[in-house]
Amino acid sequence: MIPSDDRINYLDHAATTPVRPEVLEKMLPYFTEIFGNPSSLYALAGEARYGVDESREQVAAVLGARSSEIVFTGGGSESDNLAIKGLAALQAHAGGHIITTAIEHHAVIHPVEQLEKRGFTATYVGVDSTGRVDPEEFAAAVQPDTFLASVMLVNNEVGTIQDVAAISRLVRESAERSGTKVLIHSDAVQAAGKLSLNVDELGVDLMSLSGHKIYGPKGVGVLYVRRGVELEPLIAGGGQERQRRSGTENVALIVGMAEALTLSESERPASRDRFDRLATRLIAGVNERIPNASFNGNDNPDQSSGGRVPEVVNFSFPGVEGEPILLGLDFKGIAASSGSACSSASLEPSHVLLAMGVDPELAVGSVRISMGRDTIEEDVDDVVQALASVLEQLGTFPAAQV
Ligand SMILES: Cc1ncc(COP(=O)(O)O)c(C=O)c1O
Repeated sequence: MIPSDDRINYLDHAATTPVRPEVLEKMLPYFTEIFGNPSSLYALAGEARYGVDESREQVAAVLGARSSEIVFTGGGSESDNLAIKGLAALQAHAGGHIITTAIEHHAVIHPVEQLEKRGFTATYVGVDSTGRVDPEEFAAAVQPDTFLASVMLVNNEVGTIQDVAAISRLVRESAERSGTKVLIHSDAVQAAGKLSLNVDELGVDLMSLSGHKIYGPKGVGVLYVRRGVELEPLIAGGGQERQRRSGTENVALIVGMAEALTLSESERPASRDRFDRLATRLIAGVNERIPNASFNGNDNPDQSSGGRVPEVVNFSFPGVEGEPILLGLDFKGIAASSGSACSSASLEPSHVLLAMGVDPELAVGSVRISMGRDTIEEDVDDVVQALASVLEQLGTFPAAQV
């Protein structure tokens, strides 16, 4: 299906990104020459240990944290699970209350649901039609037995930004009033390289990151754990990562993750305007060519009042499911994704779009376009043109308008 005479117009960067050459170059020696076990005592191991230590400092610098607060994990899902289950396991009496939102990634929602089956309780705070949580409403959910509040910084399907700083401040105030202590976790997997990850400004105690969304390798992530916060490890063993994540360190992946994060952070300010322009062009193009398209998310790009990240743009198209649209785009050499998950014979509408109040029939016809470092104006024009022609072929779109 891949047109051989052309490059793929890859517009699924929220799903994953390629490892960038500088990152790969930095990782390679750790697979072959510097292969020692960082815990061993000889010089070869010392070099590997140095690679891990340096990476930890790099990550800490981006987060405004101490290097001892950085835990390397096997990815964003593991970081989310470690934060949630690791805290839950230490609750003195089984049970306790967790606050999260209805639009979290399943790497947060499913561990919380698992805990609910074991006697914990949870509140899933809803969102408005732009996908935004009201910080006051979130904080009002604090109960005397609440021990954890988990809210994502950027949503992976629609790109809406949550005001994590306001949420953590209000939750703390609310917790103080009810005489309890609530720790704040944020899944910032989709925010890295797009927003500041300063943990003090965000007011978070725990924060999850993933390597492969920022041009680093897959299978590596970070959990920031504020000093003094205790966690039961998910993986027990040799006691690596200060007893928080056992297993011989995957040095090459750790080095790659840290380098990718450092690069994405340094390029962040310069990329903002470029992505804003591309998103504006994309939204205007779709609205012009496909008048029955509906934009899902926050259409106010102003980040000072919440806003969205421009890299992720989501549309619904009436009368059609996401899957055939994606196949049509794929045939034209364009990779994008749909918010709906196809499980066996049934198409499940996205829980994020449903929580935003999108009609279930519209929610199954959603397409997410997520742009990256290589995306240029021509790619945006190409996907607008392709969407219009695929929808016309699918018969959901009057030919006269194309
Ligand atoms: C918001 C969010 N959290 C967590 C994850 C999971 O990260 P990983 O694929 O590294 O396990 C993803 C990946 O899709 C994500 O978008």
